[in-house]
This record gives sequence, structure tokens and C-alpha cells, in this order.
Amino acid sequence: MCGIVGYLGERDAYPILIKGLHRLEYRGYDSAGVALINEEGEMTVCKAKGKVSVLEEVAAERDMRGTMGIAHTRWATHGEPNECNAHPHYSQSKELTLVHNGIIENYKALREELTNQGYSFVSETDTEVLVQLIEFVKSTHHCDLVRAVHLALKSVIGAYAIAVLEKGNADRLIVARKGSPLIVGIGKTEDGKTEFYVGSDATPIVEYTNQVVYLKDEEIAVLKRDGSYTITNLSNVEQTPQLQTLQVNLDELEKGGYAHFMLKEIYEQPESIRTCLGGRIDAKKRDVILSGILDNKKRFLNARRIIICACGTSWHSALIGKYFIEEACQIPVEVEYASEFRYRNPVIFKDDIVVAVSQSGETADTLAAIKLAKEKGAFIYGVCNVIGSSIAREANSGTYIHVGPEIGVASTKAFTGQVVTLALIGLAIAKEKKTLSTEMYEMLVDELRKIPQKMQWTLDHNKNIDRFAQMFTYCKNFIYLGRGYNYPVALEGALKLKEISYIHAEGYPAAEMKHGPIALVDEEMPVVVVAPKRGMYEKIVSNIQEIKSRHGKIISVVTQGDTVVKGMSDYTFVIPDTRDCYVPLLAVLPLQLLSYYVAVAKGRNVDQPRNLAKSVTVE
Ligand code: F6R
Repeated sequence: MCGIVGYLGERDAYPILIKGLHRLEYRGYDSAGVALINEEGEMTVCKAKGKVSVLEEVAAERDMRGTMGIAHTRWATHGEPNECNAHPHYSQSKELTLVHNGIIENYKALREELTNQGYSFVSETDTEVLVQLIEFVKSTHHCDLVRAVHLALKSVIGAYAIAVLEKGNADRLIVARKGSPLIVGIGKTEDGKTEFYVGSDATPIVEYTNQVVYLKDEEIAVLKRDGSYTITNLSNVEQTPQLQTLQVNLDELEKGGYAHFMLKEIYEQPESIRTCLGGRIDAKKRDVILSGILDNKKRFLNARRIIICACGTSWHSALIGKYFIEEACQIPVEVEYASEFRYRNPVIFKDDIVVAVSQSGETADTLAAIKLAKEKGAFIYGVCNVIGSSIAREANSGTYIHVGPEIGVASTKAFTGQVVTLALIGLAIAKEKKTLSTEMYEMLVDELRKIPQKMQWTLDHNKNIDRFAQMFTYCKNFIYLGRGYNYPVALEGALKLKEISYIHAEGYPAAEMKHGPIALVDEEMPVVVVAPKRGMYEKIVSNIQEIKSRHGKIISVVTQGDTVVKGMSDYTFVIPDTRDCYVPLLAVLPLQLLSYYVAVAKGRNVDQPRNLAKSVTVE
């Protein structure tokens, strides 16, 4: 939630900051702002409601010179999206300005205290409280800004990633984090001078340098114009920075000729799954090699239970993972909404394994859930996409999904990457536990290897969805149905449609319809049914019949060659045959495309749907 970018060096900061904001816009886009300090030490702050492009229009009228600056794109938590609540926020004297990602939970108490000390506030944000607090501490302790930041952050409860500027000081940029991510990039100018980049993630940095330091919780970095920098903890003890090399490729952050990131990411899936599988399947030996499982073999062999914590789309992939792992490994698996799990004092045993599934690796609820489980003695296993993310670092071990950066707010390739990774985990455990026959194990490994080419086939044979989607723009509701492994696909299809087209949609296990929801079906209601010619085919045919009798419109996902369901359907998407457990990887593709094209036909902003942001780092 919210994106921060910063620069200190010899170049003009403004274009770097704006480009960085565009890259971070997927994290929030209801307002944006930038602050610069020019060579004379003068500070300029410029903010606007709306997208970064609006900020650019406003800034075009202003003097935006300066070689040091900070900028922010916001996803509102405290205070509605408007210019006043946009970051950066000034302190009372306007000597300091600050950008912030996270939530200051005790901001009300702090605000009251500061009000009693004569401070007044112009915005409704928790961030303004933080910058005022730093100024208050600085003046009452008669200390410099670095010390004031240390002291102020000690009295803050909550999560923050911040960057602070001080009027009159063009030589020093102060940044800090707790709970919300912050990365410092260390680059070199052509004449070999050090310059600093700051980002909520690597996307605004990678163009300039691949050398980065991921700040840890409660660390404060002071970046100086002479190229030196120090990192201390809140107790002012110096920390040794760990320089890492970014693995992100710049092309992965561009749309590459597609109209939207979401469409690009849908079409990338055959390739992203190939990368996800890369090095993890030995084709000759028909074997899965997963170091995270091998290194912790005993833990997995003795696990009493696996609990998977996740949110949103990641929760849907977790549900498919549960079905797979229970079937293949005979270990009970529970799937929990991280936001519920963390607040209900769950029973956790020391021989439980808690798996966190998270694309961003920064989702606040999932992070809090694993911290809780860790405290209670469970072993934590991360399934993340973003390398070096908070969840990946908090986990005892894990497997990255390796599908490359996902920029579109609606998750697509991360979903299939998570399903594949959970299947790999299930296969690796099953091998150790010997819960599958060799024949079955090798067949599942072989079939998993074929998924990328079957995904490609699916994408190539469902090219007419754009024309067909036009017909559904008038709809107010959709129902999605599936059974077994395809019930989570129904949930995911419905979520995709809701979040980008704003059409109400519900996913149900198909047989549950007759227990209530079937009352909604009439000739206006499109019902999307995932009906592969597999396991429960006959049952789902009956479920379709029940809907047809109530005049619902059937849109089905069927196996290539199927005629029965096709004959009963108004519209059909075709997928190649595969094992039941892998059908979700193919069936979800036409549903992603359907939601995409319905949203485009309705004129929605697909990559930046209203009220959403890519990574939910607040509760
Ligand atoms: C939906 C979507 C969200 C995320 C959820 C969890 O398309 O993207 O539902 O899946 O916010 O995010 P991560 O996986 O980053 O923990």
C-alpha cells in the first residue's frame, strides 16, 4: 500500500522520482506528491489528487529543480484521497517534510499530545502526526534530525517506511522502516560518484543500479551526498549493511506491447510456469528436487498438520494446495484467512508447519499470522514471489514461485505460480513420505512438466473471448461454479471479475447451488461452470441441468472434444485434458481473459482498479 521513492545524487531528482512513481503506481494511485531540495537548500513540495500524471501536470507549473528528493503515491487509509492528505507532509514549521507507507496505530494519542503542545494539523493523516512528532522531539531534545528520528520512532506503534527531508540540508536523506518494506539502491554516476535511490520495492531502482540494501525492521539509514551511508537500529547501534544484487530485469517492468500489464501477465503464464518449474524437475529421473523440503525433511516427515495462511487470490491457490497435499501426502492441511487466524488465538502445535502464501511477501495480515505462529513454536515455510520480501525473510525456509514481477493489480501469473509451487511441495513431501506409488508420482511429475505447453494451447484456442465478452457488460451479477479442485477456480474467476469490472460475482461449489443460491438464477444470470471431463463430470452435468431448467445462461470451461456440456452451454471455452489436480492451471486462463475483456469493454482501468492496491501492507 503506497509507494515511496527517493533520490540523492548529482542528477536532477524530479524525473527520476516521477518515473519511480509511475513504476510504483500499482501500489496505490489516489494521490501523489513530491518534495525536492535545491542546491540553495530550499524545499519545494508539490502534491495532487489522482494519478501521477495529474501530479506531473501540476508540477509543470512549478520550479522542480533539485538533486535530492522524495516522492509518494498513496492508497488512502487515514483520511480521504485529496491533495491535503497526499504526501509529503510538512511539519508545523515547514522545516521538515516526510513520506510514509504503513499505519501509525497510536496516532490519535500522539496527535492529542502534540495538540496540547501547540501543534496544529492540516490533514487527517497519521503521517502528519509522525512528521510533527519528529519536529517536536528535535526541538525539545535540542538534537539533530537523525537523533530526533530515532527518538520519535521509539514512541511510535505501528508500521512505517519513511523518508525525511530537512530544509537547508541538501546533503542528507534519512529513511527508516518497520513492518513496511524499504530498499536503498547504491548506484554510481558516470564519473564514479556514489548516488542513492530509495524505493518501496525494487521497481524504481532497477533501471539505475542492481546493488541494494534491504532495510530490516527498526533500521534507520542516513544517506549522504559524499557517498557514505550508515545504518543504525532504533537504539542507535550501527548495523552492518548487507549489499545484495537485484535479480529483476527491466523488461519485466514494461508492458512490452500489450495494452495492460494484466494482459501481458496472463499471456506470460506458459513462460512464467516454465521458469517456476526450472531446475526443480529432473525430467530424466521424473523427479522433483526442492531444497526447501529436502533441507527440512524431518520436519515435513513428522508434521502433525500443515496450516496455510493467505489472503485473496493467494488464499484460493492455498485451497488448491490443500487438496493436492492432503491427497498426495496424507497430511491434514488447513487453509486460513490470515486476517482471521491472527486474531483468534488459534491452536498451534510445535510440530505444525505454517505455510504463508503471498505474491508480494508483504501482506500485513499474512506477515502477522506467521509471526504469531512462530511465537507459538511452529515451523514457518514461505511461498512468495518477491525475493527478499518481509514474509520470505520471516519464514524459516521456503520456495519462491519465481514468476517475475507481477505489476497488474489483479493477480494472474502469481496464482498459477503458487498452485504449481504448492504442487511441487506436495510432490516433494510425498516422495519423502512414500505416500504415492512410484508410478503415480512419476506420472504427476511428467504431467506437471507438460503444463506450460498446455497453457499455451489454452491461450491460443481461446482468442475470441474479447468479442464474446462485449455481450456481458450489461450484467449486474455472475455466478461461478466448480467442484473439487475447480471450486477454488470458481472463487478465483469470480474475484477477478469483481475486482476489475466491478460486476458482482460469487463463486460456489456447484452442488451448493441447490441449498440457496439457485434462487438467484433467471434468464439474466450468466453462470460460469468449470466442467472438465474428469472426476465429477456426471455430477456437474446434473448441476448444469438444474441451472438450465431455471433459464440461466451457461458459460462453460470444457475439455477438448467434449460435446455434452458444450451442447448444454451458451458459450464454451476449451482446455486440453490433464490430471484433475492440474485442471485449475488451465481452467483459470479463460476466466482471467473473460474478466479482463469484460472490464476493458466496460471501460475500466484494468491495471489500477478503483479502491485497490497491489500489496496490502496495512490491516
Ligand atoms: C487479487 C489480489 C489479491 C491478493 C491479496 C494477497 O487479484 O491480487 O487478492 O491476492 O491481496 O496478496 P499477496 O499474495 O501479495 O499476499
